[in-house]
Amino acid sequence: MLIDAMERFGNPTIPYIAAWRSDSNHIWYEFCGKQFHEMLNGNSEKLASAFREQIVNRYLYSRDGDSSTIVKVSKDKEQLDRMRPALRRMAVRTGQVEAVYKIEANNKPVWLKDMAKVEIFAEDNIILSFGSLVDVSSEMTLQETLEETQQQLHTNKVNLETLVEQRTQELHKSQLEVVSRLTQALLYRDDETGLHGQRLSEYCSVIGSAMGLGKGVVDVLREAVPMHDVGKVGIADAILLKEGPLTSDEFDIIKTHCQLGADLLQGGDSKLLKVAHVIALTHHERWDGSGYPHGIKARKIPLAGRITALCDVFDALTSPRCYKETWSFEKATNEITKLSDVHFDPQLVDLFMKNLPKIRQIHQEKTPEEEKNGGMRLAHKASAADA
Ligand SMILES: [Fe+2]
Ligand SMILES: [Fe+2]
Repeated sequence: MLIDAMERFGNPTIPYIAAWRSDSNHIWYEFCGKQFHEMLNGNSEKLASAFREQIVNRYLYSRDGDSSTIVKVSKDKEQLDRMRPALRRMAVRTGQVEAVYKIEANNKPVWLKDMAKVEIFAEDNIILSFGSLVDVSSEMTLQETLEETQQQLHTNKVNLETLVEQRTQELHKSQLEVVSRLTQALLYRDDETGLHGQRLSEYCSVIGSAMGLGKGVVDVLREAVPMHDVGKVGIADAILLKEGPLTSDEFDIIKTHCQLGADLLQGGDSKLLKVAHVIALTHHERWDGSGYPHGIKARKIPLAGRITALCDVFDALTSPRCYKETWSFEKATNEITKLSDVHFDPQLVDLFMKNLPKIRQIHQEKTPEEEKNGGMRLAHKASAADA
């Protein structure tokens, strides 16, 4: 009667009573509305099995400890079939059932929230579960759509991040390529070798790391440093490749390579070009203010410029140049110490000396045998002052 009345009013609640014997798996439903029978294709003979047959999924919701997070435990039909006896024992133990079943009813998904009380009639070995199934399809469809959308959004975000990362790497690679070709172009006109740039990168990295700079910053420094003299591409061959000493006017022209390089590297968006710009402009400034192009002193000289200045001079001293013999490693380090507080930042000289084993190793590994023990280049270079 009650069930009939509820169905007539279109109540979404389907009351039921299920019963099973505690010593067997057999279950039967004695009371359940017409609506439920119809939902299960009118199969009222074996209502419980028809219901079980059409289950697609079962969700159990619970709170996660003290937090307000709702945990959804989802079990598919196969898992449920395996676990049914255990689930019944749990219902008996807790005295209740609360789960959401997704079933295929008349070829469309229907979600039923099952809420029941479980009672044990020990005398007859019968367990009775009585409660109601509530159609929660609209809420669950909404939830599934939300989850799918969230999943899709997440996938899109990951794809986008990967794409951005790829593009950033590509951009960085192409920048490096342009820069290395630019540096390469300079080598055709200067008497320095590519190894000068490589050693300089390594020396500067050692000092940068010893300063406590982060790996990312040190990497940028390493990549930017070989461009320090890129402005020399703008110096006339007659001066850059001049044999013999330079006049003071000619030397003034050589000095413009800092500003020329800075202009060439100006306005780049990347950290690489920004740092390269700073290095090109300031690698001939001196700690005491007697350097060029602007004669700035001490910490007013950007750190990247100070580091490059020290390592560039050290490498010039320990490499063969047209205007001088190759200095021994010891003679060159003595010179660096002597120029501390005059040409170089004393703190950097300190770090340089503390890291001599690493500097020596780079020098050993990246200097050709014939250059280690003295010697001069045959070509004449413009100025000894320009490392
Ligand atoms: Fe230079
Ligand atoms: Fe240099």
